Amino acid sequence: MTIASDLMNRGFHVFRQCLNEEELTDFHDDYASDKAIDNNAYRLGKVSPQVLLSVQGKLTRLLESVKTEHVFAPNHLGGGAYFATDKGIDFGWHQDHESFFMQQTHQDYLNIYIPIAKPNPTQSNLSIIPIDSWKVASPEAWKLLEWQGASSVRTENGKTHISNDHSGGERATLNFPIDEISETPCLNPGDALLLRGDMFHKTQDTQTNRVALSVRAWNNRHTVTRDHFLETCEVKDAFKEKNTSMYGAIASVFEAHSQLTIGELLVRSNALTQQTTPDS
Ligand SMILES: [Fe+2]
Repeated sequence: MTIASDLMNRGFHVFRQCLNEEELTDFHDDYASDKAIDNNAYRLGKVSPQVLLSVQGKLTRLLESVKTEHVFAPNHLGGGAYFATDKGIDFGWHQDHESFFMQQTHQDYLNIYIPIAKPNPTQSNLSIIPIDSWKVASPEAWKLLEWQGASSVRTENGKTHISNDHSGGERATLNFPIDEISETPCLNPGDALLLRGDMFHKTQDTQTNRVALSVRAWNNRHTVTRDHFLETCEVKDAFKEKNTSMYGAIASVFEAHSQLTIGELLVRSNALTQQTTPDS
């Protein structure tokens, strides 16, 4: 299966025309109603559950085609968020933070990223670092980064420093600017970019008004631990301070459990906050 092998070998797959015109109009109208997600780390638009429900069957079938036995198997479709350049979304190179703080691994974690408004296919996309390019340029670095998250990138004097924003310090240093091994798949409205959770990505540019729907999928059976949640650093603390409701709920759950599955954690913490917050 091309999608599964692309995700394993390259870390991403472009699925053209995933949403049709009617579905795009529904999401566009939903975005225009301007509901915000309660997270001070960034301004994300909230996706109405009923609009997401209308494409649930389609996305679930997509997940079925992604599963590879014992290697990459998301089994649960989460909520969605809108990422809009006109709302200040402009991220540098990173691996996602909050999904990693919550899920504690990016194994089996998939980002389904679909532009719903995009004036130009060559602009305002996501730039990414393909896994096969990592393996050629710096296989030893990729060994440290695979399935990880909460990393930021700083380029200085031609070198790339990759920070560990979960527990502090650096995960890896590269002897070249990371941009040298990047790619930018061109997307039209409705095209889906499927990205593994451990993929490094950044906003290509903010020159056009792009709005993207991002829906996350993961494997609810993974175990999460209190120890991992409590491990921290300055950057992780800053994220926690910007979303006290969600992290407070997770902390409450871990007060009672030293470990549980991600599915159990989300059920218990969502019951306390009555909302889910997707990641950057
Ligand atoms: Fe991200």
